[in-house]
Amino acid sequence: MKKKFLLLATLIFGSLWSADAQTTLGLKDYYKNYFPIGVAVSAKNIMSSDTSFILTQFNSLTPENAMKMGPIHPKENEYNFTEADAIVNFAQRHHLKVRGHNLCWHEQTPDWIFKDKDGKLVSKTELLKRLKEHIFTVVNRYKGKVYAWDVVNEAIDDDSTHFLRNSLWFKICGIDYIIKAFEYAHEADPNAILFYNDYNTERPEKRERVLQLIKKLQSLHVPVMAVGLQGHWSIYEPTQHELQSTIQSFAALGLQVQITELDISIYPWEKNVRKKTDKDIDIYTTTIENKQAEQYKMVFDVFRKNKKYITGVTFWNITDKVTWLDHYPVPGRKNYPLLFDADYQPKKAYWDVIHF
Ligand code: GLA
Repeated sequence: MKKKFLLLATLIFGSLWSADAQTTLGLKDYYKNYFPIGVAVSAKNIMSSDTSFILTQFNSLTPENAMKMGPIHPKENEYNFTEADAIVNFAQRHHLKVRGHNLCWHEQTPDWIFKDKDGKLVSKTELLKRLKEHIFTVVNRYKGKVYAWDVVNEAIDDDSTHFLRNSLWFKICGIDYIIKAFEYAHEADPNAILFYNDYNTERPEKRERVLQLIKKLQSLHVPVMAVGLQGHWSIYEPTQHELQSTIQSFAALGLQVQITELDISIYPWEKNVRKKTDKDIDIYTTTIENKQAEQYKMVFDVFRKNKKYITGVTFWNITDKVTWLDHYPVPGRKNYPLLFDADYQPKKAYWDVIHF
Protein backbone atom coordinates (compact mmCIF):
# COMPACT_ATOMS: atom_id res chain seq x y z
CA MET A 1 0.00 0.00 0.00
CA LYS A 2 2.78 2.37 1.07
CA LYS A 3 4.69 1.52 -2.11
CA LYS A 4 1.63 2.18 -4.28
CA PHE A 5 1.12 5.55 -2.60
CA LEU A 6 4.71 6.53 -3.21
CA LEU A 7 4.45 5.56 -6.84
CA LEU A 8 1.24 7.55 -7.25
CA ALA A 9 2.75 10.57 -5.49
CA THR A 10 5.83 10.40 -7.71
CA LEU A 11 3.67 10.25 -10.80
CA ILE A 12 1.49 13.19 -9.73
CA PHE A 13 4.25 15.43 -8.42
CA GLY A 14 6.63 14.34 -11.13
CA SER A 15 4.21 15.41 -13.83
CA LEU A 16 3.32 18.61 -11.98
CA TRP A 17 7.01 19.42 -11.78
CA SER A 18 7.61 18.79 -15.45
CA ALA A 19 4.49 20.77 -16.40
CA ASP A 20 5.89 23.57 -14.28
CA ALA A 21 9.28 23.30 -15.93
CA GLN A 22 7.62 23.75 -19.31
CA THR A 23 5.76 26.84 -18.20
CA THR A 24 8.82 28.61 -16.80
CA LEU A 25 8.90 32.03 -18.39
CA GLY A 26 11.94 33.01 -20.42
CA LEU A 27 13.25 36.13 -22.15
CA LYS A 28 11.01 35.48 -25.17
CA ASP A 29 7.91 35.57 -22.94
CA TYR A 30 8.83 38.78 -21.15
CA TYR A 31 9.46 40.36 -24.55
CA LYS A 32 6.49 38.87 -26.40
CA ASN A 33 4.91 42.28 -26.90
CA TYR A 34 8.17 43.74 -28.16
CA PHE A 35 10.31 41.58 -30.46
CA PRO A 36 11.59 38.01 -30.83
CA ILE A 37 14.64 37.14 -28.74
CA GLY A 38 17.11 34.94 -30.54
CA VAL A 39 20.38 33.15 -29.96
CA ALA A 40 23.28 32.03 -32.14
CA VAL A 41 23.74 28.27 -32.05
CA SER A 42 25.83 25.45 -33.43
CA ALA A 43 24.37 22.11 -34.52
CA LYS A 44 25.92 20.64 -31.35
CA ASN A 45 23.87 23.02 -29.18
CA ILE A 46 20.57 21.85 -30.62
CA MET A 47 21.50 18.18 -30.21
CA SER A 48 22.59 18.54 -26.59
CA SER A 49 21.02 19.12 -23.22
CA ASP A 50 20.96 22.85 -24.12
CA THR A 51 17.74 22.34 -26.08
CA SER A 52 15.23 22.75 -23.25
CA PHE A 53 17.09 25.84 -22.05
CA ILE A 54 17.07 27.30 -25.57
CA LEU A 55 13.36 26.58 -25.96
CA THR A 56 12.55 28.21 -22.62
CA GLN A 57 14.46 31.41 -23.27
CA PHE A 58 14.49 32.05 -27.02
CA ASN A 59 12.14 32.04 -30.02
CA SER A 60 14.58 32.68 -32.81
CA LEU A 61 17.86 31.06 -33.92
CA THR A 62 20.86 32.17 -35.96
CA PRO A 63 23.37 29.52 -37.05
CA GLU A 64 26.58 30.82 -35.50
CA ASN A 65 28.79 29.41 -38.29
CA ALA A 66 26.89 26.76 -40.24
CA MET A 67 25.59 29.02 -43.02
CA LYS A 68 28.74 31.02 -43.60
CA MET A 69 30.26 30.53 -47.03
CA GLY A 70 33.32 28.62 -45.82
CA PRO A 71 31.47 25.91 -43.88
CA ILE A 72 28.48 25.58 -46.22
CA HIS A 73 30.29 25.80 -49.59
CA PRO A 74 33.84 24.54 -48.96
CA LYS A 75 34.58 23.64 -52.60
CA GLU A 76 33.23 24.86 -55.90
CA ASN A 77 31.06 21.81 -56.46
CA GLU A 78 30.53 20.83 -52.87
CA TYR A 79 28.00 22.11 -50.40
CA ASN A 80 27.80 20.91 -46.83
CA PHE A 81 24.30 21.45 -45.56
CA THR A 82 24.35 19.00 -42.66
CA GLU A 83 24.67 21.45 -39.78
CA ALA A 84 22.53 24.19 -41.28
CA ASP A 85 19.79 21.66 -42.07
CA ALA A 86 19.88 20.33 -38.50
CA ILE A 87 19.42 23.84 -37.09
CA VAL A 88 16.64 24.76 -39.52
CA ASN A 89 14.81 21.45 -38.92
CA PHE A 90 15.03 21.93 -35.17
CA ALA A 91 13.63 25.45 -35.55
CA GLN A 92 10.77 24.21 -37.73
CA ARG A 93 9.86 21.46 -35.26
CA HIS A 94 9.69 23.96 -32.42
CA HIS A 95 8.23 26.92 -34.33
CA LEU A 96 11.26 29.15 -33.93
CA LYS A 97 12.25 31.84 -36.39
CA VAL A 98 15.57 31.52 -38.22
CA ARG A 99 17.88 34.34 -39.34
CA GLY A 100 20.28 33.34 -42.09
CA HIS A 101 23.87 34.40 -41.47
CA ASN A 102 25.44 35.24 -43.87
CA LEU A 103 25.67 35.33 -47.68
CA CYS A 104 28.72 37.47 -48.36
CA TRP A 105 31.59 38.35 -46.04
CA HIS A 106 35.37 38.80 -46.22
CA GLU A 107 36.03 36.25 -43.46
CA GLN A 108 35.26 32.52 -43.25
CA THR A 109 35.09 32.66 -47.03
CA PRO A 110 36.59 29.74 -48.95
CA ASP A 111 39.70 30.53 -50.94
CA TRP A 112 38.45 28.80 -54.08
CA ILE A 113 35.79 31.41 -54.72
CA PHE A 114 38.38 34.06 -55.63
CA LYS A 115 40.76 31.82 -57.57
CA ASP A 116 40.90 30.08 -60.93
CA LYS A 117 42.45 26.64 -61.39
CA ASP A 118 45.94 28.15 -61.66
CA GLY A 119 45.51 30.02 -58.39
CA LYS A 120 45.08 33.42 -60.06
CA LEU A 121 42.34 35.85 -59.04
CA VAL A 122 39.20 35.40 -61.14
CA SER A 123 37.57 38.17 -63.15
CA LYS A 124 34.70 40.27 -61.84
CA THR A 125 32.26 38.47 -64.17
CA GLU A 126 33.36 35.09 -62.87
CA LEU A 127 33.26 36.11 -59.21
CA LEU A 128 29.77 37.53 -59.53
CA LYS A 129 28.66 34.37 -61.34
CA ARG A 130 29.97 32.28 -58.42
CA LEU A 131 28.35 34.60 -55.89
CA LYS A 132 25.03 34.29 -57.70
CA GLU A 133 25.22 30.50 -57.83
CA HIS A 134 26.05 30.42 -54.10
CA ILE A 135 23.28 32.78 -53.07
CA PHE A 136 20.65 31.10 -55.26
CA THR A 137 21.52 27.63 -53.93
CA VAL A 138 21.58 28.55 -50.25
CA VAL A 139 18.64 30.96 -50.20
CA ASN A 140 16.49 28.59 -52.26
CA ARG A 141 17.18 25.66 -49.99
CA TYR A 142 15.87 27.53 -46.95
CA LYS A 143 13.14 29.52 -48.67
CA GLY A 144 10.11 29.89 -46.42
CA LYS A 145 12.15 28.64 -43.45
CA VAL A 146 14.69 31.43 -43.08
CA TYR A 147 12.79 34.70 -42.81
CA ALA A 148 15.74 37.11 -42.91
CA TRP A 149 19.26 37.08 -44.36
CA ASP A 150 22.39 38.97 -43.43
CA VAL A 151 23.24 39.49 -47.07
CA VAL A 152 26.45 41.46 -46.70
CA ASN A 153 28.48 41.42 -43.50
CA GLU A 154 31.04 44.02 -42.46
CA ALA A 155 31.75 45.77 -45.77
CA ILE A 156 32.86 49.05 -44.17
CA ASP A 157 36.60 49.47 -43.53
CA ASP A 158 38.02 49.58 -40.01
CA ASP A 159 40.08 52.63 -40.98
CA SER A 160 37.79 55.62 -40.56
CA THR A 161 39.53 57.47 -43.39
CA HIS A 162 38.46 54.76 -45.85
CA PHE A 163 34.99 53.82 -47.00
CA LEU A 164 34.60 50.21 -48.17
CA ARG A 165 36.88 47.48 -46.85
CA ASN A 166 39.60 46.55 -49.33
CA SER A 167 38.65 42.85 -49.33
CA LEU A 168 39.05 40.55 -52.31
CA TRP A 169 35.35 41.07 -52.98
CA PHE A 170 36.00 44.79 -53.26
CA LYS A 171 39.30 44.50 -55.11
CA ILE A 172 37.69 42.37 -57.81
CA CYS A 173 34.18 43.86 -58.02
CA GLY A 174 34.21 47.30 -56.39
CA ILE A 175 30.87 48.16 -54.77
CA ASP A 176 29.05 45.93 -57.28
CA TYR A 177 29.48 42.82 -55.13
CA ILE A 178 27.29 44.46 -52.49
CA ILE A 179 24.67 45.57 -55.01
CA LYS A 180 24.59 42.17 -56.70
CA ALA A 181 24.47 40.20 -53.46
CA PHE A 182 21.26 42.01 -52.49
CA GLU A 183 19.77 41.65 -55.95
CA TYR A 184 20.51 37.91 -56.13
CA ALA A 185 19.10 37.30 -52.64
CA HIS A 186 15.94 39.22 -53.46
CA GLU A 187 15.51 37.35 -56.70
CA ALA A 188 16.00 34.01 -54.94
CA ASP A 189 13.50 34.78 -52.17
CA PRO A 190 11.41 37.91 -52.65
CA ASN A 191 9.85 37.40 -49.20
CA ALA A 192 13.06 37.34 -47.19
CA ILE A 193 14.01 40.45 -45.25
CA LEU A 194 17.46 41.50 -46.42
CA PHE A 195 19.99 42.96 -43.98
CA TYR A 196 23.24 44.84 -44.12
CA ASN A 197 25.05 43.75 -40.92
CA ASP A 198 28.03 45.41 -39.21
CA TYR A 199 29.78 46.17 -35.90
CA ASN A 200 30.63 49.42 -34.08
CA THR A 201 27.63 50.99 -35.80
CA GLU A 202 27.03 53.15 -32.73
CA ARG A 203 30.40 54.91 -33.06
CA PRO A 204 29.45 58.12 -34.88
CA GLU A 205 32.13 57.93 -37.57
CA LYS A 206 31.38 54.31 -38.44
CA ARG A 207 27.64 54.92 -38.32
CA GLU A 208 28.05 57.75 -40.83
CA ARG A 209 29.85 55.48 -43.26
CA VAL A 210 27.18 52.75 -42.92
CA LEU A 211 24.48 55.37 -43.49
CA GLN A 212 26.37 56.58 -46.55
CA LEU A 213 26.47 53.02 -47.93
CA ILE A 214 22.75 52.44 -47.29
CA LYS A 215 21.82 55.76 -48.92
CA LYS A 216 23.93 54.90 -51.93
CA LEU A 217 22.24 51.48 -52.22
CA GLN A 218 18.81 53.03 -51.83
CA SER A 219 19.55 55.59 -54.55
CA LEU A 220 20.32 52.64 -56.87
CA HIS A 221 17.07 50.86 -55.82
CA VAL A 222 19.01 47.98 -54.28
CA PRO A 223 16.67 45.87 -52.10
CA VAL A 224 18.31 46.55 -48.73
CA MET A 225 15.50 46.44 -46.18
CA ALA A 226 17.08 46.34 -42.78
CA VAL A 227 20.22 46.97 -40.81
CA GLY A 228 21.79 44.60 -38.31
CA LEU A 229 23.62 46.29 -35.46
CA GLN A 230 25.80 43.39 -34.38
CA GLY A 231 25.86 44.57 -30.77
CA HIS A 232 29.29 43.21 -29.82
CA TRP A 233 29.40 45.83 -27.10
CA SER A 234 31.15 46.22 -23.76
CA ILE A 235 30.60 47.69 -20.33
CA TYR A 236 32.26 50.84 -21.74
CA GLU A 237 30.20 51.46 -24.87
CA PRO A 238 27.86 52.39 -26.47
CA THR A 239 26.30 55.23 -24.50
CA GLN A 240 22.54 55.59 -24.36
CA HIS A 241 22.76 58.59 -26.67
CA GLU A 242 24.91 56.77 -29.23
CA LEU A 243 22.55 53.80 -29.30
CA GLN A 244 19.40 55.90 -29.51
CA SER A 245 20.70 58.08 -32.32
CA THR A 246 21.95 55.06 -34.25
CA ILE A 247 18.54 53.36 -34.17
CA GLN A 248 16.84 56.62 -35.08
CA SER A 249 19.08 57.38 -38.00
CA PHE A 250 18.61 53.97 -39.63
CA ALA A 251 14.87 54.01 -38.94
CA ALA A 252 14.74 57.43 -40.62
CA LEU A 253 15.90 55.74 -43.83
CA GLY A 254 12.88 53.43 -43.61
CA LEU A 255 14.90 50.41 -42.48
CA GLN A 256 13.98 47.79 -39.91
CA VAL A 257 16.60 47.49 -37.20
CA GLN A 258 17.76 44.34 -35.40
CA ILE A 259 20.46 43.73 -32.85
CA THR A 260 21.93 40.63 -34.42
CA GLU A 261 24.90 39.46 -32.31
CA LEU A 262 24.45 40.84 -28.82
CA ASP A 263 26.99 40.36 -26.06
CA ILE A 264 28.43 42.80 -23.53
CA SER A 265 32.12 42.13 -22.98
CA ILE A 266 33.75 42.98 -19.67
CA TYR A 267 36.79 44.30 -21.59
CA PRO A 268 37.21 47.31 -23.88
CA TRP A 269 36.64 46.52 -27.56
CA GLU A 270 39.69 45.30 -29.48
CA LYS A 271 39.97 43.97 -32.99
CA ASN A 272 43.38 42.41 -33.51
CA VAL A 273 44.15 39.00 -32.07
CA ARG A 274 46.94 39.21 -29.49
CA LYS A 275 48.54 37.14 -26.76
CA LYS A 276 47.29 37.24 -23.17
CA THR A 277 49.54 39.37 -20.91
CA ASP A 278 49.86 39.93 -17.15
CA LYS A 279 47.56 42.92 -17.50
CA ASP A 280 44.68 40.69 -18.64
CA ILE A 281 43.30 39.83 -15.24
CA ASP A 282 40.16 37.92 -16.06
CA ILE A 283 38.37 38.29 -12.74
CA TYR A 284 34.68 38.89 -12.86
CA THR A 285 34.22 41.12 -9.81
CA THR A 286 30.89 42.23 -8.35
CA THR A 287 31.66 45.76 -9.49
CA ILE A 288 32.07 44.58 -13.07
CA GLU A 289 28.96 42.40 -12.87
CA ASN A 290 26.96 45.40 -11.63
CA LYS A 291 28.35 47.63 -14.35
CA GLN A 292 27.42 45.01 -16.93
CA ALA A 293 23.90 44.75 -15.49
CA GLU A 294 23.51 48.54 -15.80
CA GLN A 295 24.66 48.41 -19.42
CA TYR A 296 22.25 45.57 -20.24
CA LYS A 297 19.42 47.44 -18.50
CA MET A 298 20.21 50.59 -20.48
CA VAL A 299 20.34 48.90 -23.88
CA PHE A 300 17.09 46.98 -23.34
CA ASP A 301 15.39 50.18 -22.12
CA VAL A 302 16.41 51.77 -25.42
CA PHE A 303 15.27 48.71 -27.41
CA ARG A 304 11.82 48.77 -25.79
CA LYS A 305 11.44 52.50 -26.40
CA ASN A 306 12.19 51.85 -30.07
CA LYS A 307 9.99 48.78 -30.46
CA LYS A 308 8.39 50.36 -33.55
CA TYR A 309 11.65 49.92 -35.42
CA ILE A 310 13.26 46.93 -33.73
CA THR A 311 12.20 43.57 -35.14
CA GLY A 312 14.54 41.27 -33.24
CA VAL A 313 17.32 40.98 -30.68
CA THR A 314 19.70 38.02 -30.95
CA PHE A 315 22.35 36.99 -28.42
CA TRP A 316 25.66 35.67 -29.69
CA ASN A 317 25.93 32.39 -27.69
CA ILE A 318 23.80 30.92 -24.93
CA THR A 319 25.60 31.30 -21.58
CA ASP A 320 28.97 32.35 -20.15
CA LYS A 321 30.01 28.68 -20.12
CA VAL A 322 31.30 28.93 -23.69
CA THR A 323 31.46 32.10 -25.75
CA TRP A 324 33.50 33.13 -28.79
CA LEU A 325 34.91 35.96 -26.65
CA ASP A 326 36.87 33.38 -24.59
CA HIS A 327 39.11 33.04 -27.65
CA TYR A 328 38.82 36.39 -29.36
CA PRO A 329 40.67 38.72 -29.50
CA VAL A 330 42.79 37.34 -26.63
CA PRO A 331 42.90 33.53 -26.69
CA GLY A 332 42.49 32.06 -23.21
CA ARG A 333 41.12 35.21 -21.58
CA LYS A 334 37.80 34.25 -20.06
CA ASN A 335 34.92 36.61 -20.75
CA TYR A 336 31.44 36.77 -19.20
CA PRO A 337 29.35 38.60 -21.78
CA LEU A 338 25.88 37.02 -21.56
CA LEU A 339 22.81 36.99 -19.31
CA PHE A 340 23.39 33.49 -17.88
CA ASP A 341 26.38 32.17 -15.95
CA ALA A 342 28.33 29.00 -16.72
CA ASP A 343 25.72 26.99 -14.78
CA TYR A 344 22.88 28.41 -16.88
CA GLN A 345 21.71 30.54 -13.94
CA PRO A 346 20.38 34.05 -14.58
CA LYS A 347 22.88 36.78 -13.69
CA LYS A 348 22.04 40.17 -12.19
CA ALA A 349 21.79 41.55 -15.74
CA TYR A 350 19.01 39.05 -16.54
CA TRP A 351 16.75 40.37 -13.79
CA ASP A 352 17.43 43.93 -14.90
CA VAL A 353 16.46 43.00 -18.45
CA ILE A 354 13.15 41.31 -17.56
CA HIS A 355 11.97 43.68 -14.80
CA PHE A 356 10.46 46.65 -16.52
C1 GLA B 1 31.22 38.64 -36.60
C2 GLA B 1 30.39 37.77 -37.51
C3 GLA B 1 29.83 36.61 -36.76
C4 GLA B 1 30.86 35.96 -35.89
C5 GLA B 1 31.42 36.95 -34.97
C6 GLA B 1 32.32 36.21 -34.04
O1 GLA B 1 30.48 39.44 -35.81
O2 GLA B 1 29.31 38.45 -38.10
O3 GLA B 1 29.38 35.66 -37.66
O4 GLA B 1 31.88 35.39 -36.65
O5 GLA B 1 32.07 37.91 -35.76
O6 GLA B 1 31.73 35.00 -33.58
